[in-house]
Amino acid sequence: MSSDSSRQPSSTVVAGPSGALRGVARVPGDKSISHRALILGALAPGHSRITGVNPGRDVLATATVLGRLGASVQWAEHEDQVDIEGWGGKGPREPDDVLDAGNSGTTLRCLLGVCAGANGAFVFTGDASLRRRPMGRVVSPLRAMGARIDGRAEGSLPPLMVRGSNLTGRVHSLPVASAQVKTALLLAGLGAPGSTSVTEPRPSRDHTERMLAASGVPVARSALTATVAGGGRVGAGPRRVPGDLSSAAFILAAAVLVTGSDVALADVGINPTRAGILGVLAAMGADVEVEHSGDWGGEPVGTLRARTSELRGVTVDEAGVPGLIDELPILAVIATQASGRTLIRGAGELRVKESDRIATMAAGLAALGAEVEALPDGLSIGGPTTLQPGEVDSGGDHRVAMSLAVAGLIADGPVTIRGWDCVDTSFPGFLTSLGALRSGPGSEIRP
Ligand code: S3P
Repeated sequence: MSSDSSRQPSSTVVAGPSGALRGVARVPGDKSISHRALILGALAPGHSRITGVNPGRDVLATATVLGRLGASVQWAEHEDQVDIEGWGGKGPREPDDVLDAGNSGTTLRCLLGVCAGANGAFVFTGDASLRRRPMGRVVSPLRAMGARIDGRAEGSLPPLMVRGSNLTGRVHSLPVASAQVKTALLLAGLGAPGSTSVTEPRPSRDHTERMLAASGVPVARSALTATVAGGGRVGAGPRRVPGDLSSAAFILAAAVLVTGSDVALADVGINPTRAGILGVLAAMGADVEVEHSGDWGGEPVGTLRARTSELRGVTVDEAGVPGLIDELPILAVIATQASGRTLIRGAGELRVKESDRIATMAAGLAALGAEVEALPDGLSIGGPTTLQPGEVDSGGDHRVAMSLAVAGLIADGPVTIRGWDCVDTSFPGFLTSLGALRSGPGSEIRP
């Protein structure tokens, strides 16, 4: 099998059929945890050193906005390490310009919660994708706490303007499971008298709850509810970010799909509210070993090892979706190689991510000859199918771009992915990490 991947002009990557992938892969720090580590560092008084920070554009957007809000944020050159001096009890300062969250929903939604109870006016915007994404889900409950937020479409689309005000703690019941919304409300609750509790229809990732608790803020928890008391003070201190399981999922998928592969990844976050992909891979028959190696700041961390496997189709329903929401694009690619049908339902949230991931994945996989049907709330994929060479579009969505690149590794010829630059949102070293695992003639990857 020949192997060829190279970067082309105008943000295009060609992913060709790959020889076996073998060795130890590196993934960047967890993006969700990195955002939170920076935000908690800004809320804390004094110095916090954060290591293993995700170097992608989304986390950079959070760091830049926090700097504009008065935190001192220093990135160590060539290292995924950030030193931050927080604003502590003073709160964020009013910035002299608009705050740009770029492509990052986590930045915008979580920081709305931080600014809602602060002194001053704060205007948030983002790129074209973020300005299309629904914000009513976070604006409405913040308004119910007394927040003054306005914006396009009655405050449901960015740009959004927050005029800081006195908030009151409140009981929230969210219609959609969302860790970003939950985080915004809990952080707003820290500055609001009374207690603030958030109940979700299904458990979403609980990094905020774990990291607040590890920073000295008590969080009362039951299966679907998290509660904080107003006045809780976040402590400064070192935080170490585990590897990103969502980034690791692309490498695991490549290892499972490419013949003769055997790949290990160390120090990856395996938080159970986030690790649904590991259970689904196991149910598909994938040979993926998980070994718990420790806990970093309340977050479980482990070593993963994946080998080429025979796969069968699975059903992922609404109950399973929050635990692997970001892994559904790569799961769609894996499903093309599983025998039988893979059905993903109850995943309407995919339509309001960085792209409409149901539409972009269905179009991309169909262009490669996959047996795929877009459903209103998911995807139906038949397999196994030999993927064909072709040209596909990322839709400006990092997870779609990397998923389609993995499809290229197992296709019958080169797959050209247009709109590759967006990969820098979460995994700037993706081609390098993958390239280090490839062997044989023609396998060079030029990142
Ligand atoms: C995230 C939560 C999820 C996820 C996103 C990161 C977070 O979004 O899809 O990539 O860091 O809290 P929702 O909160 O919209 O479910």
